[in-house]
Amino acid sequence: MIFRQIFDSVSSTYTYLLASRRGGEALIIDPVLDKVDRYLQLLQELDLKLVKAVDTHLHADHITGLGALRDRTRCITVMGERSRVDVVSMRVTEGDPIEIEGLTLSVLYTPGHTDDSYSFLMADRVFTGDTLLIRGTGRTDFQNGDAGAQYESIFGKLLKLPDETLVYPAHDYKGDTVSTIAEERAFNPRLQVASKQHYVELMHGLNLPNPKLMDVAVPANMRVGMSHEEIARRGWAVGAAEALQLLGRSDATLVDLRERREREKHGLIPGSLHAPYPDLADNVRPGGMLHALASATGKRLVFYCAFGERSAMAVQAAQGAGIAAACHIEGGIDAWKKAGGPTVAPSA
Ligand SMILES: [Fe+2]
Repeated sequence: MIFRQIFDSVSSTYTYLLASRRGGEALIIDPVLDKVDRYLQLLQELDLKLVKAVDTHLHADHITGLGALRDRTRCITVMGERSRVDVVSMRVTEGDPIEIEGLTLSVLYTPGHTDDSYSFLMADRVFTGDTLLIRGTGRTDFQNGDAGAQYESIFGKLLKLPDETLVYPAHDYKGDTVSTIAEERAFNPRLQVASKQHYVELMHGLNLPNPKLMDVAVPANMRVGMSHEEIARRGWAVGAAEALQLLGRSDATLVDLRERREREKHGLIPGSLHAPYPDLADNVRPGGMLHALASATGKRLVFYCAFGERSAMAVQAAQGAGIAAACHIEGGIDAWKKAGGPTVAPSA
């Protein structure tokens, strides 16, 4: 496995780059905007293809690299379903897997620092965001923080993991890089409390100043969504209501870009084809499945995904590969459902 911990000294943030092998798919956790060039260089040096960029929560102390990485690598952006970020490509919830080639992270919902804080468990290690830090815990006094919820997340979920589980937090201000569950249970001063009430009182007594970048970072991080205007201006977008008219027409094929798990959970548009986003480049190039379909039948390819992010990138890739009749559904299946569009369960 390739595992890199990259430090941003301005915000004391740790970013993690994961891959199962050289030359394979990669995933990044909590990227920082100012460090995006460094990540791209490292990806190139290790011959990795970035397929997913994940944030543990909406950060208040730095601007996320999610949007820039999406724009420069066409990777999928992932956050928890409780996040109020305008649009991310994929939203996950407790128990969901986040998969790339050869690696799976399991999602734990661990609110408290914020109400959109998630931790990601992978075999022998857990990425705890700002929920559990090394010999500390994330503050709970803004962004819908809740010290009681944090107590439950830490004592009810994280400390129940095996003792030897490695703890990789989103920040460290002292230079520590990794800990274990057993170490934190024994030595983390914030966890030496007799009760939830005691923990809440401890957290409420901290009186911390706001992070320096908070007024800039929070609004910036809520706008990760890509600019859709240019795609619409070129006529490559259809609204959900308009897309409803395409249902059952012989001159259009709806193409679902989502993963199997998303299709099972949220259903799919009847009659649509499944062509997962990670295989898109292969599918739209001359000789690829979608390229052949479009040129053999003259059908309009109508891409859709969860929220219209992956499909917007797919349209640009398809148009770039010469499929002139490609477009996408703005807002994805989320908008489709809100417009009253029917869905069915995937067939086995
Ligand atoms: Fe945070």
